[in-house]
Amino acid sequence: MQLIDGKSLANKVQASVATQVEELKREKNIVPGLAVILIGDDPASHAYVKMKAKACEKVGFYSITHNMPDTISQDEIIATIEMMNNNPRIDGILVQLPLPKHVDTDKILEVIDPKKDVDGFHAYNMGRLVTNLDSFVACTPLGVMKMFEEYNIDLEGKDVCVVGASNIVGKPMASLLLNANATVTITHIFTKDLKAHTSQADIIVVGVGVPGLIKEDMVKEGAIVIDIGINRMEDGSLVGDVDFKNVSSKCSYITPVPGGVGPMTIAMLLSNTVKAAKGRI
Ligand code: GUN
Repeated sequence: MQLIDGKSLANKVQASVATQVEELKREKNIVPGLAVILIGDDPASHAYVKMKAKACEKVGFYSITHNMPDTISQDEIIATIEMMNNNPRIDGILVQLPLPKHVDTDKILEVIDPKKDVDGFHAYNMGRLVTNLDSFVACTPLGVMKMFEEYNIDLEGKDVCVVGASNIVGKPMASLLLNANATVTITHIFTKDLKAHTSQADIIVVGVGVPGLIKEDMVKEGAIVIDIGINRMEDGSLVGDVDFKNVSSKCSYITPVPGGVGPMTIAMLLSNTVKAAKGRI
């Protein structure tokens, strides 16, 4: 069994972004800019946004965070995004999810200029991804693809089971895998027999937020298991969606939690933002 080290790969991606930022500054006088909209006081969202801002600073981006109370109206959020769409210093716009219940998330995401949609959540970018055209791709699934590349894991013809069908993770993940010529099965909350699918898979990618969902008897010997889940337990510890202790010995490769996919999400956000900044040229 080999661990896939997301932390060290994320550092490598971050270093490459920092070099590209240096070049953009030196040769084109461009400083990549990322704007984050953070609404309400959800502690997890605040923690994520803080990590994103810190990473931006580290690679030399211009970054701003707009903090708004959860009483803010949808129209005010839209006006803020439109202002960012028109601000030439801002290359990437990220609206931290989840949004308060009175706000229509789909409507908000559609307002972001697709060229500044570094989260890849806009329907324009999702559509381009499905049709295998160049697009901004959601950071977490993009980070998983980077891991496959780094560890020379060939996807062509592989049976891959994606567990979870969210717009943020499962659907873009499945599209990326399909574009890489894998045979993809998407399972979700209504799947009749999850184990029937996971136990056949060469590769399992799971991101549903259910601690320990994937158990030893659901995984084929030698399988590759990618755990996107990050679940905070009552004792404060972080665990994934995979029962790591019992599953890991059966795997050829597995990602740990923490230190697996998690750090890749921010690294790919940086990478998407530098890509957006290059679009200015
Ligand atoms: N909430 C949880 N994950 C994400 C993410 O990748 N991007 C945004 N914007 N919000 C999130």
